[in-house]
Amino acid sequence: MVRVENLTKIYEMENGPVTALRGVSLHLPAGSFVALLGKSGCGKTTLLRLIAGLESPSEGEVFCSAPRANVGYVFQEARLMPWLSVADNIRFAEWSGRERETLGDLEGILRTLGLSEFAGAFPHELSGGMAQRVALGRTLFCKPHLILMDEPFGALDWFTRKALQGDLLRLWQEGGKTVLFVTHDIDEALLLADHVVVLREGEVIDRFQVERPHPRNSAELYSLRERILFSIEGV
Ligand SMILES: Nc1ncnc2c1ncn2[C@@H]1O[C@H](COP(=O)(O)OP(=O)(O)O)[C@@H](O)[C@H]1O
Ligand SMILES: [Mg+2]
Repeated sequence: MVRVENLTKIYEMENGPVTALRGVSLHLPAGSFVALLGKSGCGKTTLLRLIAGLESPSEGEVFCSAPRANVGYVFQEARLMPWLSVADNIRFAEWSGRERETLGDLEGILRTLGLSEFAGAFPHELSGGMAQRVALGRTLFCKPHLILMDEPFGALDWFTRKALQGDLLRLWQEGGKTVLFVTHDIDEALLLADHVVVLREGEVIDRFQVERPHPRNSAELYSLRERILFSIEGV
């Protein structure tokens, strides 16, 4: 689905170059759910932006088997259009000139995300969790093969976060989607992903496979959690 080879990204700043990524290679098999873990500033967002084609690498290459239009991006904040209703925010891509048949089913998405009753509501009337559901709906409406998610639940409270993790897992389990999910929460990564990639200071330090069926419980993942923590900290 996606292959990243020897990716390096250097930002030229006033006080000198900043190396955000250093020779990163990564493979995302079609249908996989990969979590990208690492401390703040280790290059997670930069890697996502390069894969999405929002930025170009200083060195290396990104190979993606899906056209870039079929790549969805979910940010930490919902970034909704305040003057559009929930339904119109979700079907926003209809105005982009895309063929109707390449787009999803609005009613189905509203139902899946528990938003049917809020179709006519406006962003200022929504809780943070609802707004993030709308953002996910807007992405799903474009029927992405690849979904890049940058700490999408990072701003939500624990209960809302759990609910959205469950929604995302169900959507992924329906099949046909590859997910690259950035988080700094090890438990979230272990709960959702089948592969965990650890970034430290712009480099891929470790990769782990999580071979546990869903639903997972955190007790059985305890030793893997310890190994990942050790890998992130690098001590
Ligand atoms: N647009 C930019 N210009 C300059 N430096 C940047 C830019 N984006 C990120 N960086 C730097 O690159 C490094 C990695 O940042 P980022 O990818 O945002 O990390 P993360 O998402 O893991 O917190 C940091 O040192 C950050 O300051
Ligand atoms: Mg980031």
